[in-house]
Amino acid sequence: MKVLYASSEALPFAASGGLADVAGSLPRAIRNRKVACRVVMPYYSTISEELKSKCKYLLNFTVDLGWRKQYCGVFTANIGGVVYYLLDNEYYFKRGRLYGEFDDGERFAFFSKAVLDLISHIDFIPDIIHCNDWQTGLVPVYLNAFYRNNDRYRYIKTIFTIHNIQYQGKFSDFVAGEVFGLSQNTSNVLEYDGCINVLKAAMQESDRITTVSESYANEILTPSYAFGLHSFLNDNRFKLRGILNGIDMELYNPRTDAKIAANFSENDLSGKEKCKKDLLEQFSVPYDKETPVIAMVTRLVEAKGISLVRDIFEELMKKDIKFILLGSGDKEYEDFFQSMRDKYPEKVGVYIGFSPATASKVYAGADMFLMPSLSEPCGLAQMVALLYGTIPIVHAVGGLRDTIKDCSLGEGNGFTFEYFSRDALINTIGNALRVYGNKKDWTELKKTALKSDFSWKKSAEKYINTYKEI
Ligand code: GLC
Repeated sequence: MKVLYASSEALPFAASGGLADVAGSLPRAIRNRKVACRVVMPYYSTISEELKSKCKYLLNFTVDLGWRKQYCGVFTANIGGVVYYLLDNEYYFKRGRLYGEFDDGERFAFFSKAVLDLISHIDFIPDIIHCNDWQTGLVPVYLNAFYRNNDRYRYIKTIFTIHNIQYQGKFSDFVAGEVFGLSQNTSNVLEYDGCINVLKAAMQESDRITTVSESYANEILTPSYAFGLHSFLNDNRFKLRGILNGIDMELYNPRTDAKIAANFSENDLSGKEKCKKDLLEQFSVPYDKETPVIAMVTRLVEAKGISLVRDIFEELMKKDIKFILLGSGDKEYEDFFQSMRDKYPEKVGVYIGFSPATASKVYAGADMFLMPSLSEPCGLAQMVALLYGTIPIVHAVGGLRDTIKDCSLGEGNGFTFEYFSRDALINTIGNALRVYGNKKDWTELKKTALKSDFSWKKSAEKYINTYKEI
């Protein structure tokens, strides 16, 4: 079986969020299980020169996108055994950022069409095209509309993975014909709730829909989580599967990570203390061995539960803790955390921005990791925190519910709260601080965390079974 994995971002080339981690590790896990899997993504100008030097020019062709004819160059690279195809068009992909451009609809319609055209030019005819998020959502739509008469495409099956249902690729009606080059005949596919909705169209045209945890698969059947798509999803429930993301356990490994002050493992935790000291130094907060460090690595947006953290912050400051935050996002939250750092310089460290090196230091040096997301399809940071022996405090939702079990239940690996409220959050932090006070219990918790298994083992099998089933 051959799988072509289409994604608008993938490590190591380009990342804006968790999708890049998945696209950078699942294909390898699938290949390791004897199923051929190649990745196709855009050749963004933001890719580092070092990585560009690993890409070889292969060929080019012209993509028909409505009345437009657009050049598409193909570069290829082999990363850890996985073949990547990177599709090049400077007009669309020579931009300062991956998304948020006025013409994202056209950029990713081009990409989706080019993914299909690519198949005519390479010696890899997939049985399955695995698409991710709305940016690749037109792949199954175009496939069914234009390509089925051609033998290479006749039997291709498609699976579509939702990484976050909030982002749907919604456009006004004229975009269908004028930009996507799709005719009136596809209006029942593209339209939903009075506009063009690429995510909905992708789900309708795919053979299977998956999302990134079992809990989220259930949640998106309800109005509170589906951003308007619950009734469509209920009608298409027979196609929907929840498969928990794995992570690259080699990339996030405190035993080998060169970005942290000292390496450590469950057999020798002394390095973790050095990392704590180094972390506080980096954030200019005085170090104190006994005081627990609660950390966040997050986008500063509503969905991550940031307003709840803001609401309890003064209360939190009454406790004997240090607080470290790494992230960026909405200006009001950035300003808030900076003002708290100015008010409590002995307790609070804030860095507005992101770098993988600083993130590693936070995961390694903190004692607790706070992730009170309002909604979380899977979540990556809580798993990374555990792998570094840092204990998560999370809202029990989506993938957080599926990966973190509360310690009060016996065999827990963190602290969770059910109701999204200030009281619940502050009480749960209180529970964590109590357990922290008991050295023996806390050490056990850290050791268990360091032994967590979030590899792709089980989930890669589930994807392969899904491919086989269709
Ligand atoms: C999105 C989701 C996140 C998930 C990631 C990878 O970023 O918000 O929860 O972990 O995709 O699937």
